[in-house]
Amino acid sequence: MILNEEHYQLNGRDIVLKSATAEDGAMLVSYLKTVCGETRFLLCYPDEVSYTDEQEEDFIKTHNEAEDAMLMLAFVDGQYAGNCSFTSVGPSRRAKHRADVGIALFLKYTGFGLGRLMLTRLIDVIKKCGFEQAELTVVGGNERAYHLYESLGFKECGRIPNANRYDDGTYADDIHMVLKLKAE
Ligand SMILES: CC(C)(COP(=O)(O)OP(=O)(O)OC[C@H]1O[C@@H](n2cnc3c(N)ncnc32)[C@H](O)[C@@H]1OP(=O)(O)O)[C@@H](O)C(=O)NCCC(=O)NCCS
Repeated sequence: MILNEEHYQLNGRDIVLKSATAEDGAMLVSYLKTVCGETRFLLCYPDEVSYTDEQEEDFIKTHNEAEDAMLMLAFVDGQYAGNCSFTSVGPSRRAKHRADVGIALFLKYTGFGLGRLMLTRLIDVIKKCGFEQAELTVVGGNERAYHLYESLGFKECGRIPNANRYDDGTYADDIHMVLKLKAE
């Protein structure tokens, strides 16, 4: 699904939200390597990011063409700041009502409301697509992300203890959260 360019103002900064194009593949690989090194709260270490530019271009194409997925890029004062996305949890009829959500911003663009703006817009699209719930996983200790998700209505529904083992020998849980979109 394509998000046509949208413009916002946030704390005096110009924000553009829009879908990626195939030419953004290399930029997204480089971004992944950087953000994975800036925080311990993403999926892996930077040296484990092994996507090629072509694979990332396929990822963009798949999200743009699907009716039940979207990749949203954010630009702050013309600079790429990060992205958020959703896809259906699975293709089966039993899982098609569930959207899986992810978000990561460059460190320098965190903490001024961009994550809230992007997720609010993404959830709006997820609802319009007819999904009944949005789901995500947050690493224990990621207080900023946890607070943001909770304030948007996500509720903690389970934990995998010590799901993440770091090179320094420490561990962190995975916390699963769900946002119900359908009235009970
Ligand atoms: C997590 C992330 C997407 C949040 O986006 P963001 O733009 O930084 O967040 P926002 O500024 O919109 O909102 C953060 C909220 O957390 C609050 N917050 C900040 N630090 C906090 C802390 N240590 N404890 C609790 N709340 C905190 C802020 O006050 C704000 O809440 P408010 O709007 O009620 O005042 C972004 O920080 C990010 O990409 N981080 C690195 C990658 C990552 O962790 N991704 C998420 C993986 S699940």
